Amino acid sequence: VLCWFYIYPGYRLPRDKEIVEEVLRQGEVWQKNQTGIDLYRKLLTECCDPRRMFAVTKENSPMGKVLWYDGEFYHSHTVNNETYPLFVQDNPLQLPLKKCAVVGNGGILRHSKCGRDIDQADFIMRCNLPPISKEYVEDVGTRTHLVTANPSIIEKRFQNLLWSRKAFVDNMKVYGSSYIYMPAFSMKPGTDPSLRAYYALADTSSNLTMLFANPEFLRTVGKFWKTRGVHAKRLSTGLFLVSLALGLCEEVIAYGFWPFSVGLDEQPVSHHYYDNILPYKWFHAMPEEFVQLWHLHKTGTLRMRVGHCP
Ligand code: CDP
Repeated sequence: VLCWFYIYPGYRLPRDKEIVEEVLRQGEVWQKNQTGIDLYRKLLTECCDPRRMFAVTKENSPMGKVLWYDGEFYHSHTVNNETYPLFVQDNPLQLPLKKCAVVGNGGILRHSKCGRDIDQADFIMRCNLPPISKEYVEDVGTRTHLVTANPSIIEKRFQNLLWSRKAFVDNMKVYGSSYIYMPAFSMKPGTDPSLRAYYALADTSSNLTMLFANPEFLRTVGKFWKTRGVHAKRLSTGLFLVSLALGLCEEVIAYGFWPFSVGLDEQPVSHHYYDNILPYKWFHAMPEEFVQLWHLHKTGTLRMRVGHCP
């Protein structure tokens, strides 16, 4: 069980147990609030311009443009002959997207039977190349339109693509013809693995399209949440995707967001639906993020699914 978190003096983040109780009180009651949806789309458009800026494109990053890494101080990449051709021309998504499902990797999804619900969305986003094999389908669904991939996964799971690329290319087939969204320009060591992942897909005529996350977008989204009480070294992937979805979609439903060790039934919950490996020293501030997301749920701006699906 987590200890107390302080955001700033005078404000205390509720404990796991208090959050569980609050969620239970609210129950499955939810009412869509179009004013809230419009307001958040406006706020996110003003701060971060997700439509134009979420990916690195030829349009927003022409030759010679300096991309400042958002996860490091004073590191930049100047768009050149080698990188420019790898960028998509412009935002490739058909906007506005209607109903979007953002699927976090929380253990709360296990035995949730939310697969069918998730698959009914028009646009489905997933985090960090999660497993969606047969044993998980009932809980997490099968369809994917955008999936994020952290360069560290390329390093750990696919030997940095320095040897065979077959395992990587084969593994990616479960994501069909979706977009693979990589923060290639966030941390310096992440650039090469991201470019290798691009080539591994391009050279094998894969159905997936690589999109590099725009570091400027990631930075502005980070600032947006900082002013709203999320004080992490870095936002979690899930919150980046929810922010993107709030900016691009008419309706957002979030699944698998539950960074607590106990569930609504007071039973232990694993960190992920597929394992229980905890993040490094809470690099992110997931409970703080959850409080924000729950606030958006209560006000009808997005819907959080934290229990079983009907
Ligand atoms: O890379 P990161 O640690 O951010 O993510 P992950 O463990 O692969 O999970 C994907 C996302 O699901 C996270 O970024 C969180 O937003 C969310 N998550 C959650 O809310 N509760 C959990 N127990 C695990 C993940």
